[in-house]
Amino acid sequence: MKVSELLQQIDRGALPAHIAIIMDGNGRWARKRGLPRVAGHRAGINAVRQVVEGSAELGISVLTLYAFSLDNWKRPHIEVTTLMQLLKEYLNKELENIHKNNIRFRTIGRTEALDASVRAELEKGVSRTRNNTGMLFNVALNYGGRAEIVDAVNRLLNNGGKELAATGGISEKDFAQYLYTAGQPDPDLLIRTSGELRISNFLLWQIAYAEIWVTETLWPDFEKQHLYQAIIAFQKRERRYGGLEPQLVPTLALGDRKM
Ligand code: IPE
Ligand code: IPE
Ligand code: MG
Repeated sequence: MKVSELLQQIDRGALPAHIAIIMDGNGRWARKRGLPRVAGHRAGINAVRQVVEGSAELGISVLTLYAFSLDNWKRPHIEVTTLMQLLKEYLNKELENIHKNNIRFRTIGRTEALDASVRAELEKGVSRTRNNTGMLFNVALNYGGRAEIVDAVNRLLNNGGKELAATGGISEKDFAQYLYTAGQPDPDLLIRTSGELRISNFLLWQIAYAEIWVTETLWPDFEKQHLYQAIIAFQKRERRYGGLEPQLVPTLALGDRKM
């Protein structure tokens, strides 16, 4: 099916507010071509452009891309430094385009532990786009879902946690305000490329009720058409949040409600 036909199938009134993507398969893409792994990471930049542009065009409120996990430090040094280099290159090249599209760039994760030159580039991106009012674009860097929850608990403890405990503790809603994603809607749609059926420590708290869509497509081959396919599949899902399908919910007469 043509990309334009897929686009027409999308119901603009029922878009996911937040799309989160585990960009996976760069290494396999390179291996299939007899290239070094880093060539796969370089090729993956085009897919990043496609989803950022595609999501912003559709009017998605929040897009979060998993770019580097806390566990990715286990990879060879050359791969890690290349990933950081590519991130800087991407921002350098794309920042003005991101800004022109009214996109607000942000990072989530323990970015304070990244190299100073990477931090400088990230800070430039954040401050340049700070006042934009369009799509919020989070890049998860040096990110771990458990670490995020632990960081939240530590912030909470430093922010008068004891007093809060004395007044009956906090709610889920209050707790979410201590996460990196404070104030953002939870992801409705979680996409993972390259066929892997796992979460890999991504947004553990926030994906509680996300719809998961996995494609065999490797990240460097991911294009707007795949994003559209994911959204179309999402719009066919029935989200129950632990309740029942609407047709099974009894329509109670007023008097019945007392039961
Ligand atoms: C995803 O591709 C990119 C990062 C995790 C940074 P991989 O590098 O994990 O690719 P595979 O899984 O080895 O194919
Ligand atoms: C998840 O992919 C991390 C990112 C996409 C940045 P990985 O390739 O690192 O995850 P595992 O090793 O398959 O769980
Ligand atoms: Mg991988």
